[in-house]
Formats: sequence, structure tokens, C-alpha cells
Amino acid sequence: MKKLITLMTLLLSMGVLADGAMAFSKDSLTWGKCTGCHEPKDGKISRVEEIRATPDEWGVIIDRMARLYDMDLNASERDVLLKEICETQILSPEELDKVSYLNLYNNPQTVEIPQGEQEGQFFATCVRCHSAGKIKSYRMTESAWAKVRDFHYYMDPAIDGQMREMKWYEESAAILASLAKSLPYDKPWVTPQANPAGSWIVLGNEPGKGNYRGHASIKAGQSGSYTVAGALSYDDGTSEHFQGEAVLYGGHALRTETRHNNFVTLGAYSFADGIIKGQHHFPAPDFRTSTSTWYPADGPARILKVTPSYLLAGETTTLTLEGVKLPEIKAGDLDFTGGNVKVLEARRDGETIVAKVAYQGKGAVQASLTVKNLNTLPVTLADRIDHIKITPELGRARVYGGIHFPAEGVQFEAVAYAADDLILGAVPASFKLSEFVTRENDDDLAWLGAIAKNGTYIPTSDYGQIMTREYKTEGTGLVNVSAEYERAGHQYTAEAMLAVVPPDYVPRVK
Ligand code: HEC
Ligand code: HEC
Repeated sequence: MKKLITLMTLLLSMGVLADGAMAFSKDSLTWGKCTGCHEPKDGKISRVEEIRATPDEWGVIIDRMARLYDMDLNASERDVLLKEICETQILSPEELDKVSYLNLYNNPQTVEIPQGEQEGQFFATCVRCHSAGKIKSYRMTESAWAKVRDFHYYMDPAIDGQMREMKWYEESAAILASLAKSLPYDKPWVTPQANPAGSWIVLGNEPGKGNYRGHASIKAGQSGSYTVAGALSYDDGTSEHFQGEAVLYGGHALRTETRHNNFVTLGAYSFADGIIKGQHHFPAPDFRTSTSTWYPADGPARILKVTPSYLLAGETTTLTLEGVKLPEIKAGDLDFTGGNVKVLEARRDGETIVAKVAYQGKGAVQASLTVKNLNTLPVTLADRIDHIKITPELGRARVYGGIHFPAEGVQFEAVAYAADDLILGAVPASFKLSEFVTRENDDDLAWLGAIAKNGTYIPTSDYGQIMTREYKTEGTGLVNVSAEYERAGHQYTAEAMLAVVPPDYVPRVK
């Protein structure tokens, strides 16, 4: 008996038996807003407590409750609801990470590709009107998944006709049964104690502009939100000040809205293990995405990032080491293991360490760099660049379609590889467009405008007929993108494609 009681106490303290506890108290806004229609059973709000999802998908659901069913909702209530619901009904950091390419419905160039036959069937049945990522943004109980079929018949009564090459009624049920196994509700999320307030070192990369570094400070604001401010300086010599707000959902999903010089950006970051990691997106039309990691500025002295992260044989490279509280340093304090690298010079320069080094060995090696009394980071060694590739392989831009549908651009980037497809890193190639001939007198290129040398493409046309163009079509088309890069007497080229298409008039359903 005593043993059992000890076990019970242990389980209770681990939160395992917390099942009886209510996720939403009767005085919560969620209870007040939702139980009028979603009847609570045993203290649980039906439908709501059968689903876990991303903050973004919860936003879609809450907005639909207001739009279609006249649920009263103002902007500040929406914020509170999202925060309350995500306390228990959000995905775990690992689950969220897998769909982070969809965060915020920015303009991802990701192409979803089904893995294996079963996923093929899932894509054929479900990934026709929206992304697979939207579906994978959900975890539901078996009965909640089963209701998704009726939900679709209700939202889109024409679905049988649209999906007429299959028996959607039967086939969707089979897929939903398998999703109940692969994307199960499991249990409510338990929000950990987490506080991102503090001062941070920001290290990032923005395709088309390069690496950047800076500082940010996060301060607790009103009702669980935070204020964020900071300054960044880029490799290309430009700098940015930013300030704005942040909200932390479920103790791990940090969403920001910050003004950078003249642009308002939306950011989606994960906050885990004391580190903030994620992206912010610049608005249309240029849609740049900037990726960064934020480290606590008051942490112990350590190196955090080495740029470039690779060395080529026969070159002398100037490395920049970024970190926290970096000490004064001399050449002998840097130690490469795993390859023959000579350190010619090393010194501290402001907040960074700058070192001149040369790889004097042969072959591709994953080596590491240790700074005396500090830590170790990986560095790739290679004979030479073998080839370059462009990302995305197929860029998709959209022409302007009125003020609610701004043009959407694409940022291409060239990435260098050593032999055997060993990735080295981005290189500053020059970009060009050329015609991809798909028909007689193909003239797309003439109507698409130009790409900037650094790979930024922004459509120039709008969604209207061009009376002087053959067939009076708009300024859309499909063209080749090429990148050229020269290094150590070698000329590298790579090809990709650019599709410039009409506006997406249903931007909400991604
Ligand atoms: C005025 C009535 C009404 C209110 C208030 C209401 N809902 Fe709903 N809700 C519905 C209806 C009707 C459906 C079924 C159709 C649908 O999903 O749009 C639904 C469905 C849902 C679903 C299931 C969606 C799915 O994918 O299966 C969720 C989750 C949900 N509501 C959440 C909420 C939350 C959270 C609130 C409170 C912030 C709320 N609802 C308030 C009427 C309401
Ligand atoms: C014919 C088009 C179409 C097909 C096919 C389709 N969906 Fe959807 N789905 C939609 C639309 C439209 C919405 C958004 C409704 C809204 O929020 O207004 C949606 C929303 C959803 C949602 C979000 C639910 C919510 O409460 O907002 C899920 C989950 C989903 N679909 C899963 C699936 C699955 C699983 C399949 C395959 C069995 C599927 N969809 C096939 C059109 C489709």
C-alpha cells in the first residue's frame, strides 16, 4: 500500500495523472467564447480539446468561428484566445519543427514530395487544394480526424465533382483512419516555464545579402507579450535597426512582429534549450527570408559560428569567429584537428576573432576548430569546389493582382559543393535569366523583367492583359535562371527555372 502511495505521489508530481485537471478554467476567455457552441463534457471543451495544432492553424480556426458563426471577436481577444489555447493545444517543438516551412504562411518555395506509395495515396486524396504541411500541422483524436471528411463536404459541397477521378467519400475515410495513427492527438501539451527576456547575440544569414550579426534585447511587456529591439550589421556593409513585439505560445513557439528600418517583418522562432532559432520574413513583394539563431549574451565565453564554414586547399582564408565574451588571442590558440590546417595569424577584432588560415592537406575532411580554453566547432576541408547548385530549383513568383495581392518575388541562392555532393556553403554567384523555349516564337523573357545580379527576382507586370503581347496574355511565363561563379581560375555554372504565375487569390488556404 505504502509503495502504491509513493508511486501515485511520484506520478502526480510528474504531471502524468494531471488528466483530471482542466485545461481551461470556467473563467478563461476560451471557456467563455467557445462553450456556447462546443459543449463541455467532464470539464473538457468538445472539439477544442481533441485537437493540437500550430498557432497559425488555431488562428485559421478561430477566425472561421468568427467569420461563419458570428462568434464575437476583437483583435485583443484573438491574441488572448491564441495564447490560452496554445498552452495545452499546441504541437510539441519537434512536431512544429517539421512544418516550420509553412509558419506564418509566408511565400515558401518548398516543394512537398510524397515519400513512398502510401504517402502518394495521401497526396492524391488530400494534397490537392492545400499543402500536406497544413494537414501535418494537426494532431487529433481518432474521432476528430474522422470528422474531417464531413467538414470538407460542408465547406466544399462540390468536392465529389472536383475529385471525380476517385471515390473521395471512401478513399478519404481510409486516409483519415491512417492519419489517426500517424498524427495522433496523444496528450495535451504541458507548457514549460520559459522566459525569453534578456539580451541576445543574433547570428544569421539572409540569401542575397549574406551573413549578419547583432544584438537583441527582449523585455517582458503586457499580458504575456514581450517587446523586442536590436541592431544587425550585414557582410555587405548595410545595417538594420529593428523593434517590435513578440508572443511566446506554449512556452516554445515565439512569434515576432518587428519593424526593420522601413519594413515590417513577421518572425517564427522556436525557443528551446535557452536558444532562439528561426526565421523572419520580409513582406511582399521581395519576400526575403532571414534565418538566425539567438544566443544569450550573458552566457559563458564560447565561440558560436565560424564563417566561412569551409576551407579549400591552396587558398588562404580569412575566418571570422563569432561568439560570447571572446578573449584576446594569438595564432597558437587555434587548433584544427582532423586535417592539416596552418594558422597564419589570429587576433581579436572588436567582438569577433579574425584568423588567416590555410588548408595544406588533401581530400575532403570533416575537421574541427578548437579555441584554447573555449569550445570546438566543425569546419569542412576540401580540395576545391566541385560544382554549384541553385536553390530553389524552380522558383515561383506571382505578378501583382491589386493591393490585396502584391507581387511575390523569389530570392535565388547559389550553393557550392565539393565532390560527392558534400555541401560547402553559399557563394556570391551572378544570376541571369534566359528563355526556356516551350513553343514557337516563345517571348516570355521579354515580359518578365530582369533578375538582380545577387539572385533577387521581383515581377514587374500586373495581372492584366498586355495588349501588345501575342494572344494578349499577361506578363507571366517560364524561363531559365543561370548562376555563374569564378574561383581560383575555375568557372562554375548552374541552372534553375523561374515560373512567373498569376496571383494566388486564395492565400489563406495553404
Ligand atoms: C457560434 C457557434 C460557435 C462558436 C462560438 C465556436 N464554434 Fe467552433 N465550431 C462551430 C461549428 C458550427 C463547427 C463545425 C464546422 C467548422 O469546423 O467550421 C465548429 C468547429 C470547431 C472545431 C473543429 C475544427 C476541425 O478541424 O474539425 C474547432 C477546433 C473549433 N470549432 C474551435 C472553436 C474555438 C476554439 C472556439 C472559441 C474560441 C469556437 N470554436 C467557438 C461553431 C462555433
Ligand atoms: C477539394 C479541396 C480539398 C481537398 C481534396 C482536401 N481539402 Fe482539406 N481543406 C480544404 C479547404 C478549402 C480547407 C479550409 C477551410 C477553411 O478554413 O475555410 C481545408 C482545411 C483542412 C484542414 C483544417 C481544418 C480546420 O479546422 O481548419 C485539415 C486538417 C484538412 N483540410 C485535411 C484534409 C485531409 C486529411 C484531406 C484528405 C482526406 C483533405 N483535407 C483534402 C480543401 C480540401
